[in-house]
Amino acid sequence: MPALVVVGAQWGDEGKGKIVHFLGEGADWVVRYQGGDNAGHTVVFDGQKYALHLIPSGILQPGVKNVIGDGVVVNPRAFVDEVKMLEKRRIKVRGRLFLSLAAHVILPYHIYLDTLREEGGRGIGTTKKGIGPCYEDKVARIGIRVADYLDADAFRNLVRQNLKVRAADLARVKSLKLIEEEVFDGYEARRRFLEGFAADTGLLLDAAKRKGAKLLLESAQGSMLDLDHGTYPFVTSSSPVAGGACVGSGIGPTTITAVNGVTKAYTTRVGLGPFPTEIEGHVAHYIREVGHEYGTTTGRPRRIGWLDVPQLKAAIRMNGLTSFTMTKLDTLSGVHPIKVCTAYKLGGRKILEFPISRRAQLEVEPVYEEFPGFSGDLKGIRKFDALPRGAREYVLAVQKLLAVPISIVSIGQDRDQTIVRDARRLWS
Ligand code: GDP
Ligand code: IMO
Ligand code: MG
Repeated sequence: MPALVVVGAQWGDEGKGKIVHFLGEGADWVVRYQGGDNAGHTVVFDGQKYALHLIPSGILQPGVKNVIGDGVVVNPRAFVDEVKMLEKRRIKVRGRLFLSLAAHVILPYHIYLDTLREEGGRGIGTTKKGIGPCYEDKVARIGIRVADYLDADAFRNLVRQNLKVRAADLARVKSLKLIEEEVFDGYEARRRFLEGFAADTGLLLDAAKRKGAKLLLESAQGSMLDLDHGTYPFVTSSSPVAGGACVGSGIGPTTITAVNGVTKAYTTRVGLGPFPTEIEGHVAHYIREVGHEYGTTTGRPRRIGWLDVPQLKAAIRMNGLTSFTMTKLDTLSGVHPIKVCTAYKLGGRKILEFPISRRAQLEVEPVYEEFPGFSGDLKGIRKFDALPRGAREYVLAVQKLLAVPISIVSIGQDRDQTIVRDARRLWS
């Protein structure tokens, strides 16, 4: 009964979608446990490309069942659109996708509030999908869950109450009456649509677990965007770290058997906030263009930097990582030298840990080790030993610095462009 959590080990967009889809072939259930349609998970196989925002990447593996868990925030409109997009592309969704009755719903006013804050000078560069305000309502215990959404009377009352609570801010956008009309525009059709997917997913997963099913838990965002452990306040409003997989799916911690951290061969970040190894100039430009480093959800150019060992060590610690996947090694081909940050300097002192204070996170200066790099097209290579020597040396050196096995190396977008170095530590 293995249960593997796949987490982003950096600031998101590490290639989780690709890896969850790849590993999903061996799973019975794939579960998204936090975040919402702020995520953009890209999956490429058989010449087809999919961008998923809310639905687990396991939906693209026939036979795998999928859960949108209790800890996810669900925009019903985005949910309907994504199901329809998949069905249009002949992916069977019904009977294979289960939406937690306990997940909270994102409504138009959450998006207005998110946008107001972002555009009011106190922004952190959110995706403007209403994620923060929806989680705020949840924590304030005024949130609306899928179970409430399906109950038309309860839903109407809760919306009216919540609009009053948010009235002062929302008045800056448009009248409450217009916002209420927007919430209810097309509601009945959406309500019926969601009803076809809603379930007590905790019970489903527990029954699956008892039958010995293999569970794969898919994080959105990344460890450094975690509300508690990330670069606060420049974080998302949920817990992408592996502990969040228990909270957000309703399975207990003793169920988890392994945690794989997905990291790029370098680092990227979208949105504002500290990024110690960030670089600008022609190398950053080269990596951005070769690696197509533009956001899947917002299209924003991603910030680029070198791999950061103190940051990844923090990810190892906060997730209990048992293995890594390193993606986008191919993107570094032609970059000479490749740098890796092995420590920071802060106030004249050398430190090995990612600091907690926001000032220190901004002030640390990376200490780099340089590697000669490699050239050539890696995308057709299927064995680790067949990679150029410089590429192998880079992976092995990083593995040594991290002291956690890099079990999978990814050398292209496509499912087939994946090298499993060591399958033993993946699931247990
Ligand atoms: P996620 O949010 O973690 O699922 O990652 P995204 O899908 O937002 O961003 C990762 C991008 O890198 C996507 O366009 C993937 O198709 C792509 N990708 C994933 N792995 C590799 C790889 O090994 N090489 C290359 N060149 N692209 C990759
Ligand atoms: P995936 O799952 C990268 C970032 C935003 C912003 C911060 C808060 O594709 O890796 P939010 O809208 O969540 O309130 O924004 O978090 N962010 C992501 N960055 N990948 C993501 O998801 C992200 N989801 C949110 O850019 O800095
Ligand atoms: Mg993404």
